[in-house]
Amino acid sequence: MNRREYLSTPMFEGSIKIMLLGSGELGKEVAIEAQRLGLEVIAVDRYEWAPAMHVAHRRYVIDMLNPNALKAVVRKEKPDVIIPEIEAIAVDALEELESEGFYVVPNARAVKIAMNRIELRKFAAEVLGLPTTRYRFAENPDEAVEACEEVGIPCLIKPEMSSSGHGHAKVLDPSPKVIREAYEYAVSHARGRSRRVIVEEFVQLETEFTVLSYRYVADNGVVTETCEPVEHWRYGEYHYIESWQPSSKPMDILNKAREIGIRVANGLGGFGIFGVEIFLTKDGRVLFSEVAPRPHDTGMVTMVSQELSEFAIHVRAAIGLPVPKPKVISPGASLAIYVDKDGIWAPKVYGVYNALKIPGVDIRIFGKPFTYKGRRMAVLLARGSTVEEALEKVRNASKYTFVG
Ligand SMILES: Nc1ncnc2c1ncn2[C@@H]1O[C@H](COP(=O)(O)OP(=O)(O)O)[C@@H](O)[C@H]1O
Ligand SMILES: [Mg+2]
Repeated sequence: MNRREYLSTPMFEGSIKIMLLGSGELGKEVAIEAQRLGLEVIAVDRYEWAPAMHVAHRRYVIDMLNPNALKAVVRKEKPDVIIPEIEAIAVDALEELESEGFYVVPNARAVKIAMNRIELRKFAAEVLGLPTTRYRFAENPDEAVEACEEVGIPCLIKPEMSSSGHGHAKVLDPSPKVIREAYEYAVSHARGRSRRVIVEEFVQLETEFTVLSYRYVADNGVVTETCEPVEHWRYGEYHYIESWQPSSKPMDILNKAREIGIRVANGLGGFGIFGVEIFLTKDGRVLFSEVAPRPHDTGMVTMVSQELSEFAIHVRAAIGLPVPKPKVISPGASLAIYVDKDGIWAPKVYGVYNALKIPGVDIRIFGKPFTYKGRRMAVLLARGSTVEEALEKVRNASKYTFVG
């Protein structure tokens, strides 16, 4: 990527086109930031009226796991920048497109490594030498039993490929029968047909961080930077519930987390933002967990807490614009709103009047056209004079809001 000296006019000759592969709530904010810079936005997803489609110039509904469908839409549109927003993409097609000269953010190899827990763990622990949970790989039930013995109980079996906690099986009991069942559960919930799993030591979490690292072109080469770490908590759920920034954890811990963030971004290379997930364990270890080479859901808080949100950073960095380190302008918090019912079409978010009466509270409605149980539909955001105050505001606001 070269420095970008000018921006352009969307929908006319010479427009700068970005194509989002995956058009969820994170893609929607990327699209909005791209629109602000006069880019031409093409939103792709597997269903009609996915969030980013509402703010795009054009949209395509395709199966993004189908390599031919993916190549057809890219070759037709010839985007200047391809921005993967989700993991479930035919990554071999991305590599092929990249070799034809298309520009994938941050690059096809990074997308490929990050979507695969086994490749990612090898890369992080064995190539980069980062601290991680103890782990073993297994590809059949017997190996899984052995792996659990070596890693120790309790442990977690995760399929090679999956997202949002799908197929994670916690093993609390060393009996081979239980482990074999957990293994079968994990592989049956995997994306794709792989029988491979990672068995990870189950750690007691003190807290979790997302270090938003980013790489951009500066005057004298590539710069890698990190945002102030975002802290988040899941209340035992796979999905994040609350995130906040800045963290009040000790500086040496935050510095270790940032260093991991930098090393991961540099290891994967390319330009754009990387959501680097890091555990702080109760016994004081700072461990790399996984990375999304794109904006991160817990980073939605940066829409209120930073000078430039993670979405603005991603777009700027991806297209060759500078990203001077954004300041935290206010302590902030986010609280995600999930729906607990399947199959509601054109759902409504109730309680917004009372929620928005609280000073400093804001909301983003994603516009997803239908629900399924556990789907994230909106996010509450708040600024406060402290993180505690911001958190209290989103929690109070969330007492009013529900999706129905
Ligand atoms: N080894 C582990 N020990 C304890 N908790 C874990 C472990 N691995 C994952 N978790 C918890 O589960 C969440 C989701 O796991 P993760 O590997 O990030 O999967 P996903 O791809 O679904 O985000 C983590 O954010 C953390 O809260
Ligand atoms: Mg994760």
